[in-house]
Amino acid sequence: MTVAIITGASSGIGAEFAKHYAKRVDELWLVARRKERMIELGDSLGVKYRVISADLCKKEGINAIRQALESEKPKVKYLVNAAGFGDFGGFDEIDESKVEMMIDLNVKATVLITHMVVPYMERGGRIIELGSGSCFTPLPYFNTYSSGKVFVLHYTKSLNHEIKKYGVRATCFCPGWVHTEFLGKATAKEGVTRPRDNAMKPLLSCEKVVAGCVRASDKGRTMYVTNWYTKLQHVLFKIVPDPILTHLWLGMLEKKNEK
Ligand SMILES: NC(=O)c1ccc[n+]([C@@H]2O[C@H](COP(=O)([O-])OP(=O)(O)OC[C@H]3O[C@@H](n4cnc5c(N)ncnc54)[C@H](OP(=O)(O)O)[C@@H]3O)[C@@H](O)[C@H]2O)c1
Repeated sequence: MTVAIITGASSGIGAEFAKHYAKRVDELWLVARRKERMIELGDSLGVKYRVISADLCKKEGINAIRQALESEKPKVKYLVNAAGFGDFGGFDEIDESKVEMMIDLNVKATVLITHMVVPYMERGGRIIELGSGSCFTPLPYFNTYSSGKVFVLHYTKSLNHEIKKYGVRATCFCPGWVHTEFLGKATAKEGVTRPRDNAMKPLLSCEKVVAGCVRASDKGRTMYVTNWYTKLQHVLFKIVPDPILTHLWLGMLEKKNEK
């Protein structure tokens, strides 16, 4: 049985990947906490699917995927690690629980799930790890999030060398700001330092960026940077010194309670 495992499948980017891979495998494995959302998605796709309702910040959540793998022994054709969370704010503004969540989910769960899934993959298998356009330069007040995404980028590039012998390729997906539930959650806490609303617009279409990433992954690309603006940033950030980039970023921020 061939499967696609998609974390973060209850919303946004993960749900969009599920729509693409539904036609390519015998069964979709949808992973997130909100079960009803995944049932709704699975039903709408008219394919065989399994819902793994799991909090991936917890060991039991990660183990729920492990148990399903051990009992079904599937051939995993696609793994998409799209479960993720971001939160704006300085080190003295942000809740410690959110900091922990960004590390546990965006970094730790991504690595642990990848390691447990690779042994079930065969030649032609594809992994997509969620990086971000925020991983190209240091971003004060989005520090833990963007630093975690730098980790994911380097991890994916290194992983590609290690899994080459199996004929499996990993792509680090680096979108700019995408229209999903992500930004609403990232800016949920009032009064903390964060970008002005217009600094994040226009938001990219989730459908378009995911379709682009699927094509890049099919071609075995190591990295996929979405639109022209994010691509330009990627190039500029390699040549413009960090202090200048940091200065520009700080100019896009506002502290809501200092208005
Ligand atoms: N949107 C953007 O602008 C943007 C830009 C660059 C990168 N990204 C990255 O893209 C990925 C997907 O984000 P998105 O934009 O699709 O955001 P989203 O709509 O908020 O989706 C996030 C997904 O992660 C799941 N999730 C959150 N906490 C979880 C937990 N503890 N355990 C299991 N699943 C959890 C959510 O499901 P439940 O709440 O049901 O658990 C949801 O399915 C993230 O890694 C994000 O960092 C997003």
